[in-house]
Amino acid sequence: MTPGEASGGPRIVVVGIGADGWAGIGDPAREAIRAARTIHGSARQLALLPDEVAGQLMAWPSPLLPALPGLIEEHGSGRMCVLASGDPMLHGIGATLARIAGVERLRVLPHVSSVSLACARLGWAIQDTSVVSVVNRPIAAILREMAPRGRILVLSEDAATPRQVAGLLDAHGWGGSRLTVLEQLGGPRENRVSGLASGWELP
Ligand SMILES: C[S@@+](CC[C@H](N)C(=O)[O-])C[C@H]1O[C@@H](n2cnc3c(N)ncnc32)[C@H](O)[C@@H]1O
Repeated sequence: MTPGEASGGPRIVVVGIGADGWAGIGDPAREAIRAARTIHGSARQLALLPDEVAGQLMAWPSPLLPALPGLIEEHGSGRMCVLASGDPMLHGIGATLARIAGVERLRVLPHVSSVSLACARLGWAIQDTSVVSVVNRPIAAILREMAPRGRILVLSEDAATPRQVAGLLDAHGWGGSRLTVLEQLGGPRENRVSGLASGWELP
């Protein structure tokens, strides 16, 4: 029981969902989604839910951050469920909700993160791997983590990111670095391509 439940207070359930959608989430996450009055997430995440889900599906507005306090005010005292990709506490909406709504109002049900899945595919130890997100952030941050034989996981902004990263590394003397692009990890369309930063010809 969370502190919010113990005090009888309202609760917002944050459910991590992966590229494998409904099939990949556990019973507690399914029950939380089934019990929700409103379910919030990206249009892509909401489309992963089966027809049996009766709550109102509400796609995030853009921009999201300024709208979030109002959405919590309107729906957070009912049964509000928020979908997030992978682990909501890894570069996700979980920490933002904790800051705005208070951790005692949240129940977070994490899914496997993209970092865990990528390390599993590559055979890398997570504790020996640097993680850099370039989602809404400058890619130059990657350079600070570069080291001979270093291992870096970059959370891409979009399909153009690998080419941009290859160009950045090549321009700063790291053209011999091997890049591996891991797409749709854990989903039916999972894909992987590799090459050197120098002469990168893929997207
Ligand atoms: C805002 S971050 C959220 C990360 C997420 N909370 C997690 O646990 O992986 C979103 C970025 O994570 C990466 N990502 C998330 N899920 C992924 C997946 N299934 N396969 C590959 N990359 C993924 C992509 O780079 C995406 O742009």
